[in-house]
Amino acid sequence: MRIQRVALLGGTGFVGRHLVNRLAGRGISCLVLTRRPHRHRELKTSPHVTLRQVDPYDRNSLAAALRGCDAVINLVGILNASRRHSFNRAHVQLVEALVAGASAAKVPRLLHMSALHADEIDGSSVYLRSKGMGENVAHNLGRAAGMAVTSFRPSVIFGRDDSFINRFASLLKLPGPLPLACPKARFAPVFVGDVVAAFEHALQDADTIGRRYDLCGLDELTLAGIVAYVAGQLQRDKLIIPLPDWASRLQARLLQFVPGKPFTPDNYLSLQTPSVCACNQLEELGLDPTPMDAVVPGYLAPRALKGPRNQI
Ligand SMILES: NC(=O)c1ccc[n+]([C@@H]2O[C@H](COP(=O)([O-])OP(=O)(O)OC[C@H]3O[C@@H](n4cnc5c(N)ncnc54)[C@H](OP(=O)(O)O)[C@@H]3O)[C@@H](O)[C@H]2O)c1
Repeated sequence: MRIQRVALLGGTGFVGRHLVNRLAGRGISCLVLTRRPHRHRELKTSPHVTLRQVDPYDRNSLAAALRGCDAVINLVGILNASRRHSFNRAHVQLVEALVAGASAAKVPRLLHMSALHADEIDGSSVYLRSKGMGENVAHNLGRAAGMAVTSFRPSVIFGRDDSFINRFASLLKLPGPLPLACPKARFAPVFVGDVVAAFEHALQDADTIGRRYDLCGLDELTLAGIVAYVAGQLQRDKLIIPLPDWASRLQARLLQFVPGKPFTPDNYLSLQTPSVCACNQLEELGLDPTPMDAVVPGYLAPRALKGPRNQI
């Protein structure tokens, strides 16, 4: 089936903006469903992009919005729960509502964003367990509703506007030493351009139906290694203090009360699972992982930081 009209939930976020740009650039009509369209008018850079307000937890509101779409893509995810938004609500209940709404609207295809090592039973944090449960709901309820479902399980994602590399870049610019929790945590950062290429590929390839793809980059690094790499790019000679485990846990307990929750006990638990792939399935999709060094220097350079938000 030729995909002409795609709806996206979470299309206003980091990955979403890159994906909307890519699909709209291919002439695919993108319907971005968002809780607050007025905040994201900058996304309307192409006649192929439409924003529509929706309550993502209301199946009727979703069904009305999704009518006429060939596929729906779910990119909603949170790293921290709040009083209003538990992990279960954002990662599981939302998927239940989405599948019900999409099924009522007769949308045949669902692409779902999960996370590497998401596991309903054995995930090391509430984040990973709820992402695992949401992924299972997408596949099981989706299949029962007659939808063709594919999910993606990336390690941490880098690219212009990411909140990982850029966060450490900001921390490295602050005065004083940088105490670093979980310095030995491992990652295989994957490029956002490769992640959105995987989504685009899946829209066109029926062999991806029913599959769950682990997505990793070429570089496997510890958190300390990533911070040292970013410091090198910024030419910052900063004292980085690797915290032992007890101090990492204490830092998480304290920082959960700081506005924006920069680090929480649940984040600490997520970092206990190495975010690296046993088998990188990006390659199964015909994609060669992009090394960090091919991209990161381009957006960490001072002039690049001021560039347009929507470029990869
Ligand atoms: N970034 C990474 O390194 C990474 C790594 C592994 C997996 N992932 C997964 O990839 C997906 C996209 O990540 P991202 O970094 O692009 O996320 P993001 O920038 O935080 O964007 C997520 C989007 O989800 C919507 N959203 C946020 N909180 C919500 C809530 N409580 N209820 C309903 N909608 C909510 C927002 O859209 P509106 O405000 O417009 O409604 C937001 O634009 C997520 O599922 C994430 O778990 C990301």
